[in-house]
Amino acid sequence: MKIKIAILITLLLSLNVVFAQKEYSVDFQKVKLIFSLDAKGTPVYKVLYGSKDIIKTSRLGFKLTENVSLNSDFKILSVDNSRFDQTWKPVLGEVGKIRNNYKQLLVHLQQNNSGKLLDIAFRVFADGVGFRYVFPKQQDLKYFIVSEEETQFNLAGDHTAFWIPGDYDSNEYEYTKSKISQIDNSSIVASSTDICVRTVKDASSVQTPLMLKTTEGLYINIHEAAQINYPAMQLHVDKASYGLTASLVPDAIGNKAYLHAPFSTPWRTIIVSDKAADILSSKLILNLNEPSVIKNTSWIKPMKFVGVWWEMQTGKGGWNYANLADSTDAKGQLIPNGKHSANTKNVKRYIDFAAANNIQGVLVEGWNVGWEDWFGTWKEHVFDFVTPYPDFNVKELQLYAAKKGVQMIMHNETASSATEYERYIDTAYKFMKKFGYRSVKTGYVGKVIPRGEFHDGQWMTDHYLRVVKKAAEYKVTVDAHEAVRPTGLNRTYPNWIASEAGRGNEYFAFSHGNPVNHETILPFTRLMGGPMDYTPGIFKLSNYADADPNRKLRSTLCKQLALYVTLYSPLQMAADLPENYMAHKDALKFISDVPVDWDDTKIIDAEPGEYVTIARKGKGTNNWFIGAITGEDSRALNIDMSFLDKNKKYAAVVYSDAPGTDYLTNQEGYVIKKIDVTNKSTLSLNLGKGGGAAVSIIQL
Ligand code: NOJ
Ligand code: CA
Repeated sequence: MKIKIAILITLLLSLNVVFAQKEYSVDFQKVKLIFSLDAKGTPVYKVLYGSKDIIKTSRLGFKLTENVSLNSDFKILSVDNSRFDQTWKPVLGEVGKIRNNYKQLLVHLQQNNSGKLLDIAFRVFADGVGFRYVFPKQQDLKYFIVSEEETQFNLAGDHTAFWIPGDYDSNEYEYTKSKISQIDNSSIVASSTDICVRTVKDASSVQTPLMLKTTEGLYINIHEAAQINYPAMQLHVDKASYGLTASLVPDAIGNKAYLHAPFSTPWRTIIVSDKAADILSSKLILNLNEPSVIKNTSWIKPMKFVGVWWEMQTGKGGWNYANLADSTDAKGQLIPNGKHSANTKNVKRYIDFAAANNIQGVLVEGWNVGWEDWFGTWKEHVFDFVTPYPDFNVKELQLYAAKKGVQMIMHNETASSATEYERYIDTAYKFMKKFGYRSVKTGYVGKVIPRGEFHDGQWMTDHYLRVVKKAAEYKVTVDAHEAVRPTGLNRTYPNWIASEAGRGNEYFAFSHGNPVNHETILPFTRLMGGPMDYTPGIFKLSNYADADPNRKLRSTLCKQLALYVTLYSPLQMAADLPENYMAHKDALKFISDVPVDWDDTKIIDAEPGEYVTIARKGKGTNNWFIGAITGEDSRALNIDMSFLDKNKKYAAVVYSDAPGTDYLTNQEGYVIKKIDVTNKSTLSLNLGKGGGAAVSIIQL
């Protein structure tokens, strides 16, 4: 009898363990987060929006090397609830002030058998959830190696996804719109133009930010925030169950992350709304990043810039001084090929153009020796970052630019030899200081050195940040190309002013270009993590005589103008050649006038893959600028101007596609209209297929 009672008690106790797993939930308006342990002691969470499942029950945890599992057998030690509501001012941004308003649930877990500790912090906002793992300081877990992060995001249905392949080395892809169940990146990977490197190991993998739309019209965005000392998170897609699982970019020997407790992982972010526009105005990712570590930020300036770059991209000029590294004369000197764009005379032309058109910077690529054999060689000792070609006079250009009030922008292409760049970095930045450069564009074309590392793994991720921190010591801002996609770190390191990390306008120069709806998807994907150096403003959209006579951008001229507003960046290039701008001086006026730093932003209307219309108020002014772009379809928009101040009058200049203009026909046709508007006005705009409109609204 005693034995039977004992069995019954044991059974009841174990049932109790199974059934009495307590759920902890946090609500913020329509967003609800629920955390619990399942029957195996595995941490699980789910997210709802009103009554709708956004993330169904999904597992959390890790596998470490040496067969250590941190994914089950946990008990909850305690749970802390807290509240946070503060407003902060970004150094540069889309808005002047950002409210950071969330409820936090911090769960302290311990593994029964091993005694190991793991905390999970959830922050619940009005527009989504962020969570991260925290490894507290503890005896039994000091140094450890992550072999898998097992975080799941189990979706509630076969949503429509806007995705690019899960490439360890590149984000430079066209977006595919498909159902989750149809995701297969193999044909895209096989047919893509790359920049000497492409590593996709899993045909069912995608990059984040991943943009999703449900059949019921909910918009969901999955990404990460504050990616520091940890690899980028990609997602493996289970097409049958619509489940997504974190897939971390590995290192050269297949491990994911080398950690030392105490350590906090990046935040995993889920943004949700029933309005697409709310996804674009979300500040959840920035809010999950730490405040600026740079105290005096007065030297961090927004800027528009021009450069000798498009003439190189389109074949009129080039980076190289000589054709080949061994194109030398009897004295061993390089023989000039006559197409070197980065020559003092040509650069002065760009400085003059910048000074005359309210453009603050001039970027010069190809100024330093090494370009004859940099491409795809995977060797070290290509560039030393301080030796100019004989026709580029650094001092003369410094003085000339200073006289004209223009900033020179340094270019440090590393050819992905990150170790070499780190060896030279102080020398390179001292050189910049000496010659008045306050801004650098870095580049990571090709396969990474240390060999075997990937662009988005832990080592390189650390490298990009080391460069940004070093740059801050020299009061230099950084625009990183081919680096990992951003995760809001521009809040913490505001001198990381922009990144490329996506497929820019440049693909029109060396591939079949970007699809007509590309720029309507970018704000919902790549730009969720931070500003993009997309290089807009191409006015000559077809009829290139040089490298490829069939080149044609899938855009109208007005769409190129609108991109200055729809693609946020405090660093924006006016990418075309001065002569192409001078052919349309009246349209160039918009680029001269448009600011790149803002006090306020209204997402007027947006739908991924279809259209984006945004109004922004210039920093420290009462002037507004509107950008509207469309994908494949033409559109007639009526914009309610009630965002303007009451009882004030404004002079609007409207740049719109001329009748009969679209991305295929008469691309450069536009009309410019001047009208007075107030906050009671409705502004009508007509966009051709693949076209756009730009409006400047200046308070009278
Ligand atoms: C690729 C970059 O995206 C581009 O802007 C740059 O001109 C080339 N690399 C050369 O560095
Ligand atoms: Ca690039």
